Amino acid sequence: MAGKTINRGKIFVVDFGGQTAHLITRRLKDLGVDSSLIDPDESFRVCSRKKPQGIIFSGGPASVYEIGAPTIDKKIFNLGIPILGICYGWQLMAHLLGGEVESADKEYGPTILTVLKFDSLFYGLPTYTKVIESHGDSVRKMPRGFSSVAKTETVKYAAVENVGDKLFGVQFHPEAHHSEHGSEMLANFATRICNLSLHPQKLNVEEMVSEIKEKVGNKKVIGAFSGGTDSAVAAALVAKAIGKNFIPFFVDSGLMREETIDRIKNKFPKILGVPVEIISARDLFLARLKGVVDPEEKRKKIGALYIELFERELKKHKDAKYLLQGTTYADFIHSQGSKRSAYIKSHHNVGGLPKKMKFKLLEPLRYFYTDQVREIGVKIGLPRDAIYQQPFPGPGHAVRIVGEVTKERLAKQVQADGIVVEEMRKSGWYKKVFQCWSVMTGTNSTGVKGDGRFYGEVVAVRIVNSKDRMSAEIARVPFPILEKIAARIVNEVPNVSRVVYDITSKPPATMEWE
Ligand code: XMP
Repeated sequence: MAGKTINRGKIFVVDFGGQTAHLITRRLKDLGVDSSLIDPDESFRVCSRKKPQGIIFSGGPASVYEIGAPTIDKKIFNLGIPILGICYGWQLMAHLLGGEVESADKEYGPTILTVLKFDSLFYGLPTYTKVIESHGDSVRKMPRGFSSVAKTETVKYAAVENVGDKLFGVQFHPEAHHSEHGSEMLANFATRICNLSLHPQKLNVEEMVSEIKEKVGNKKVIGAFSGGTDSAVAAALVAKAIGKNFIPFFVDSGLMREETIDRIKNKFPKILGVPVEIISARDLFLARLKGVVDPEEKRKKIGALYIELFERELKKHKDAKYLLQGTTYADFIHSQGSKRSAYIKSHHNVGGLPKKMKFKLLEPLRYFYTDQVREIGVKIGLPRDAIYQQPFPGPGHAVRIVGEVTKERLAKQVQADGIVVEEMRKSGWYKKVFQCWSVMTGTNSTGVKGDGRFYGEVVAVRIVNSKDRMSAEIARVPFPILEKIAARIVNEVPNVSRVVYDITSKPPATMEWE
């Protein structure tokens, strides 16, 4: 599997619960530096025993003054190992070393960093660079021995250093994809500060296939197959590992894009070399969603029904022992992936699964991000249109309809979403963006059609770019395309009064409205 031990020194990442703590290790591994997460309570013991070349304190949702906020044994600063604190990690470092932290100067999303000093962290980088910040607190007074090496408009100590003690801090997130030169900053920390050399590793698909073979043996695996990239890649890996012992199903909930079901019926059996069973359950899903308005309840109900249907199928295959899920690391972390991370939303293939299950989960992609999953897909020989399709959430249109999912609103959403996709395809923009879709907002506004006023639903169009789903920015799609989409939706979809374009980045917004 990717990130095999490199044995040329290591950086430990202390996990204070940040959404992107794992992403730091991922970035380091991509650069070719061996790295793993460790718990704050264990950190001093582990670091004094294993002597890594560097330590990174991750961000986290807590505030340093909060009761029960995660902290670290101060003796870690005496080990002489270079330490980089990121966001909460830097605030904690400042707090423990006599600085002061305050809850002000809030910054969420992209901001411009002005670099003041170009050796160490910012070696070879431009003066102005876009970085992602996501924090409430910031450091008001630096501890003794520190100096500021970069600032933003509102944060004076956006990056700091104490070269003598090999301590460094940044208020922003260099690991976030949309931090323009973030990987270079981490590479600078690894090479210039920790004296490590970089040895990038390749993803090893053969090894992943043999791991599955070894784990599953001659048992059967039922496949949670949605037709999306993640589940297609997971399915291809398992099909390659165990052939006909793999039983993929597709649950037709009516909440997926229509093109998906076509692909499942007509393409995938050939690609995988095994038949895909279709379970028709459109009415059943609508019945279960009746009266449900809370997004989390929607996800849980949908997840539970999926499992119920799978369990029903399982009875036909009594010897099946595993349930395959295409869960990726972003799904996992969004459903509280690490001990200290904050709860955002339960993606249905993680948080929504019932507690008691008759079969074990098989999740070969659990520690991979979308771009890596695609790379695995290419290596395993899946066709490009299966690999480079846009991701579609497991609960599908249900989390794109704010409020109750009724047959009528679902039909409107399917139609509006179809228009977005069609126009994006026609203009050549579909391939240029990460995801595009419509949202039934549940808000009404006044419109005029013919000679009469009417009061109808507001549809939002959301088109975003993202590499790893942890951060995203809006796609700057030309206005004529957006205008065409808006005109078609208000004219063709019944009872829609207006269309708005969502121009919020992630963070602070999430990509989906629910
Ligand atoms: P958010 O809204 O969390 O979305 O910023 C990040 C990515 O995850 C997708 N998403 C989901 N995928 N089950 C899924 O399988 C879900 O419940 C779910 N909610 C969001 C979303 O489409 C985006 O790609």
